[in-house]
Amino acid sequence: MKTVLFVGAGRHQRRAIAQARAGGLRVVAVDRNPEAPGLAEADIAEVVDFSDVDAVIEVARSHAVDGVLTISADRAVPVVAAVAEALGLPGIGTETAYVMTQKIAMRRVLADAGVPQPEFAAVRNVHEGYAALDRVGLPAVLKPADSGGQRGVFRLETADDLERHLHVALAESPTDEAIIEAYVEGLELNGLVIVRDGEAFPLTLSDRLRPPGIGFGVGWIHVYPATIYADQLEAAERVAVHAVHALGLRDGIAFPQLLATDDGRVLVIEVAARIPGGQMADLARHAVGVDLIEIALLQAVGENVPDEVARPRFTQPLAIRFLTASPGPLPTGTVTEIGSLEKVSAFPGVVQADVYLSVGETIRPVRLDGDRRGYVIAIADTNVEALERAEAAAQLVDVVVE
Ligand SMILES: Nc1ncnc2c1ncn2[C@@H]1O[C@H](COP(=O)(O)OP(=O)(O)O)[C@@H](O)[C@H]1O
Ligand SMILES: [Mg+2]
Repeated sequence: MKTVLFVGAGRHQRRAIAQARAGGLRVVAVDRNPEAPGLAEADIAEVVDFSDVDAVIEVARSHAVDGVLTISADRAVPVVAAVAEALGLPGIGTETAYVMTQKIAMRRVLADAGVPQPEFAAVRNVHEGYAALDRVGLPAVLKPADSGGQRGVFRLETADDLERHLHVALAESPTDEAIIEAYVEGLELNGLVIVRDGEAFPLTLSDRLRPPGIGFGVGWIHVYPATIYADQLEAAERVAVHAVHALGLRDGIAFPQLLATDDGRVLVIEVAARIPGGQMADLARHAVGVDLIEIALLQAVGENVPDEVARPRFTQPLAIRFLTASPGPLPTGTVTEIGSLEKVSAFPGVVQADVYLSVGETIRPVRLDGDRRGYVIAIADTNVEALERAEAAAQLVDVVVE
């Protein structure tokens, strides 16, 4: 029996841990939170803060693990790579892990490779911030060099916005670095790219629609297939694969985030080296019948991923509507009552829905990924109809606030 180590054991990892065990693997899991839901699911649970890489390597050695992985946790990606390297296990390599999690390093590699992307500049202080704005212009986007989930991400309309937000963006970066980029108007696309033995192919491309206002970077709706026309879709696939190769990923699941502009260009926002959060694994399952977790588990232990596992089995249009407030189907306020999801689940086309809320907590206007408090996934004959269904079903979610 093979043993795998899960780095991080939160909500996203719990199901994957259960699946690994059901598939005959022994699971060791680490998380700094003793209450992390995935720890209870593992064969062996160790309460370790994974930012302490040496401690994680120690756990991996002591249990003689055959593979190491994480699901959806960007901060764990460099740790997984370091553990794999230290123990001589299959992994993406620490260099690739670095350039796929550090936005400035990533932009430099992509620039060298000629991958289309927004103008950018690295920023450590207000002085450099002004120089960056001179270079990229306004509006711009300010973000921590190495964070995620839209934490510390701001759209800058004026130079005053820079002074207002820079300290927050820097504070979200463990290395006190930020990046300023030209704000690119366009339709955001999420890709899933499977890489085996250095060969990459795009599995899905979907629209990632975003709310207006301060939450401009939050994915609140996914629509599959993407709604752009064939030429730009092909360009998007080419750019996604080009970026993945440039960043040096040879075996893994990549998550390219792209912007498709009205004038037909496709630019890279970033490319992560992991299974995305935000129900993208569910998207792959319902839309093309591919189980990303199965792929990640096989790759973690260095087994070959056959076409039957990696390639699409069908194409099913769908939409995912996240439950957000202001804008979104949820109300803002303190939750007093959460009704059942029965009506939502019974709505035509709905294949999956969930609410993660508890009585007493406060629902705020959507600003971060973490403000998504549930989702509805609907399928239909077309992506447009799937979106209508998901929107309509989301209105049936019954949450009372005061
Ligand atoms: N240069 C840009 N132009 C327009 N929108 C952007 C730009 N950079 C980021 N965004 C928006 O902000 C979101 C978060 O940015 P991203 O770089 O992916 O950071 P995170 O690590 O928080 O996901 C993106 O998904 C996109 O919607
Ligand atoms: Mg992102």
